[in-house]
Amino acid sequence: MKFFLDTANPEEIRQAAALGVLDGVTTNPTLAAKEKKSFRELIIEICGIVKNGVVNAEVVSTDTAGMLREAHELASWHPNVVVKVPMTMDGVRALTALTKEGIRVNVTLVFSPSQALIVAKAGAYFVSPFLGRLDDISQNGLLLLREILDIYRAYNFKTEVLAASLRHPIHVVEAAKMGAHIGTMPFKVFEQLFKHPLTDRGLDSFLKDWEKAREVLGDIVPPAAAARNTGR
Ligand code: E4P
Repeated sequence: MKFFLDTANPEEIRQAAALGVLDGVTTNPTLAAKEKKSFRELIIEICGIVKNGVVNAEVVSTDTAGMLREAHELASWHPNVVVKVPMTMDGVRALTALTKEGIRVNVTLVFSPSQALIVAKAGAYFVSPFLGRLDDISQNGLLLLREILDIYRAYNFKTEVLAASLRHPIHVVEAAKMGAHIGTMPFKVFEQLFKHPLTDRGLDSFLKDWEKAREVLGDIVPPAAAARNTGR
């Protein structure tokens, strides 16, 4: 499963990229608006941090012609940009045209299997079902993901399923168990994936036991070598 960070904050992206398990970034107008800098500058900065991964940047026009103009501009900013268009009829018209031109498109705000079916037929690069927002209105986001994956597998669609609006680690793990190609998550959820209280407790007791026997055990790195390595 590829991990995308669902943020436009360069510092969060830098921290996640340094861990070596980040495959891309999704932004949306709400996330971009929090950063208080030009969208172009922001997307180019993020592309520079993610390097080999894709960066999803969304259009804000609602008519096909406007979406196409914005999509061409966004795609010209960096080769790693994937253009996000909303799941509307205008969006699907834009998707069809952009796909013919070879521009990669992520269709966002997908909430039903029928929408996902249209998106794949029109040749999208990614489809983004929003799991958390369905859960918020008492519908089952993971069930939608299951249905989309079943349909895509039945017809061998090439569109990758990007599980979006993930709110907690269980969303990520369940999406991974189903075989979603990508999960995009806020930095907080990404951090939670690393943590377990037994890891912290276990490490704490290992270090305490080591400290008690320190005189006999000695140092793993001899003090002279440690001083050389740290330049002391
Ligand atoms: C994905 O591309 C969207 O930006 C995102 O996952 C929406 O998540 P939210 O429902 O937490 O805002």
